[in-house]
Amino acid sequence: TIKGFIFDLDGVITDTAEYHYHAWKNLGKKMGIEIDREFNEKLKGISRMDSLERILAYGGKADRYTDSEKELLAADKNGEYVKLIEDITPADLLPGIPQLLLDLKASGIKLALASASKNGPVILDRLGITADFDEIVDPSLLTKGKPDPEIFVKGAQQLGLEASECIGVEDAEAGIAAINGAHMFSVGVGDPESMKEADYRVANTSELSLQKILEAAGE
Ligand code: G6P
Ligand code: MG
Repeated sequence: TIKGFIFDLDGVITDTAEYHYHAWKNLGKKMGIEIDREFNEKLKGISRMDSLERILAYGGKADRYTDSEKELLAADKNGEYVKLIEDITPADLLPGIPQLLLDLKASGIKLALASASKNGPVILDRLGITADFDEIVDPSLLTKGKPDPEIFVKGAQQLGLEASECIGVEDAEAGIAAINGAHMFSVGVGDPESMKEADYRVANTSELSLQKILEAAGE
């Protein structure tokens, strides 16, 4: 039986995936690298420094910056991102998420957060849902980021559950790969192409229904 849900944050619970995109796009402009939505799909779920490395490689500028310059570039992006998330309120929960959280609570299902974002806890606070989460995986303690399964494996461990008792919810290709690698049932939010490896897919969060997800997972 399913006893835990392990959630990604950005693009699943709230629309901060858009803010990450805008902040990276602006940093890209400063470096002469054009970031479009198609390439951005490859950045979703990827840690701050790994995202910068991917962007530099994509722009053919991998050897152009020293490590300390890269730290400054990543800090520049985060500075813009932190401003964009300043005014987040509970009204910024994506459609369908408040109901899903209520249904999960009513069913006694435990929740963990598996976000690569170091800004995750402050965003949960601003959304007013910190108390809904039993566990938060600390991304700074990970040895490998998504698509490695580590963050979802840790989420299940922190909840005291087996992988087979957990369902993971993601909007990123790398995130679905991480859930699948952790041998959990994967729920994908997004278009069929980027979510093609998901066990169950919805086009957007308003279609997330606990009953339908549990049925799809064979409950
Ligand atoms: C999530 C987002 C990524 C972001 C990463 C790190 O995984 O999907 O776009 O790069 O978190 O976020 P941070 O807030 O720590 O820079
Ligand atoms: Mg995401």
